[in-house]
Amino acid sequence: MAKKNSMTFIDNRTGKSYEYPILEATRGPWVVDVRSFYKDTGMFTYDPGFTSTASCNSELTFINGEKGELRYHGIEIEELATQHSYLEVCFLLSQGRLPDKEELHAFDLELRHRSFIHEGLKNLIESFPNTAHPMAILSSAVSALSSFYFEHLNINSEEEFEQMRRRLIAKIPTLAAFSYRHSLGIPFIYPDIERSFTENFLYMMRAYPGGKMHIGRQGEEQIREVEIEALDTIFTLHADHEQNASTTTVRGVASTGAHPYVAISAGISALWGRAHGGANESVIAQLEMIGSVKNVAAFVERAKDPDDNFRLMGFGHRVYKNFDPRAKVLKKLQDRLSDELSLDSELIMIAREIEKIALNDDYFVKRNLYPNIDFYSGVILYALGIPRSMFTPIFVIGRTVGWINQWEEFKKDETSKIARPRQLYIGK
Ligand code: ACO
Repeated sequence: MAKKNSMTFIDNRTGKSYEYPILEATRGPWVVDVRSFYKDTGMFTYDPGFTSTASCNSELTFINGEKGELRYHGIEIEELATQHSYLEVCFLLSQGRLPDKEELHAFDLELRHRSFIHEGLKNLIESFPNTAHPMAILSSAVSALSSFYFEHLNINSEEEFEQMRRRLIAKIPTLAAFSYRHSLGIPFIYPDIERSFTENFLYMMRAYPGGKMHIGRQGEEQIREVEIEALDTIFTLHADHEQNASTTTVRGVASTGAHPYVAISAGISALWGRAHGGANESVIAQLEMIGSVKNVAAFVERAKDPDDNFRLMGFGHRVYKNFDPRAKVLKKLQDRLSDELSLDSELIMIAREIEKIALNDDYFVKRNLYPNIDFYSGVILYALGIPRSMFTPIFVIGRTVGWINQWEEFKKDETSKIARPRQLYIGK
């Protein structure tokens, strides 16, 4: 007789049956363990795009796509984004709990001091053409960390791994800001250890040589609190997101025994695509192409046309079939900050019109196509005056902590194996 917690497959050609255990999840769907399926049946399972496949087990992030729920280590994203800083979230994802005041202070100080990069890396960035996209420079520079910080290539102890994890989180904003400044052909601004993680990133992007900020008629114009708050929230919302395409890439590279630096460099490349993290940049490019509120309806019609491959960027999600909870947080933030952010440009009006039409249109409603995080982050970053080419690097800054912790989880899991899917051969 079949066990209670199992599923039986019957091969209708032969009448033979095969029983597989069902693994219990603490939250969300349970999983049929088909690891011995090929050995038992001589057949593979087929699931392009992994729509029904759990590739690992994880304690980090939980998503309920039907309810629009997202949690890091059990804590709801809205609570983290509105009551905690990004650095607290980094600590949470790395240690499994939020830090106390002293721990946070020590963590913050350490990251400030680790934010400087080797001068050789600066030379590497300088060797790129100015036309290089910051994402291209960033993925190369992160891979190159393996040659500048090689003493940690063999991570033999928890302590060494911890140092490497902090080094990576601290240096990514510097690499991103340097990549941007190089694309403009302007001198790099070194980190300022008196500034917080998020403020420092804005500073390295914007300051003039010598560290002065823009001098306006009002005197020296500093980075505004509202900008730091919005960006910090965006980092938190991007910090981890279960087994998405870039994280799956990081775990796949980790499975070959490669170092986190190169695994994360591969994750950055995967994130760049417009179906994934590159969507935030594409949202603004698309709004510019639409050009005017009066053109929105025609573009929405194009997005619905099955013979046209035009899609509304920033809409839809593989997992969320309800409002993306990260988008919900950003929409609230956008509404709350609308007086302080410049949200009255034509571009923002176009975004609002798209949102209004799509949320009420049958095509989008039936397919559960809601605005995703990239729709609102694109609009907010644009309103903050962040250059479009930096939208996806900002996603990278937020996500690095997730990737490194997914890498660690993969390594510690005794059931981990090299990623090696099979295929349905249809050739000659
Ligand atoms: N505009 C118009 N139609 C869409 C859109 C869209 N943005 N997204 C999905 N659809 C339609 C598809 O045409 C399809 O319609 P059909 O059933 O009539 O064939 C249906 O909705 C399902 O779409 P799939 O592509 O099968 O859904 P999938 O889960 O594979 O893709 C994805 C999800 C890639 C996010 C998709 O919705 C998309 O391309 N969105 C635009 C890009 C984007 O915003 N990406 C960011 C995602 S969030 C992130 O990565 C951080």
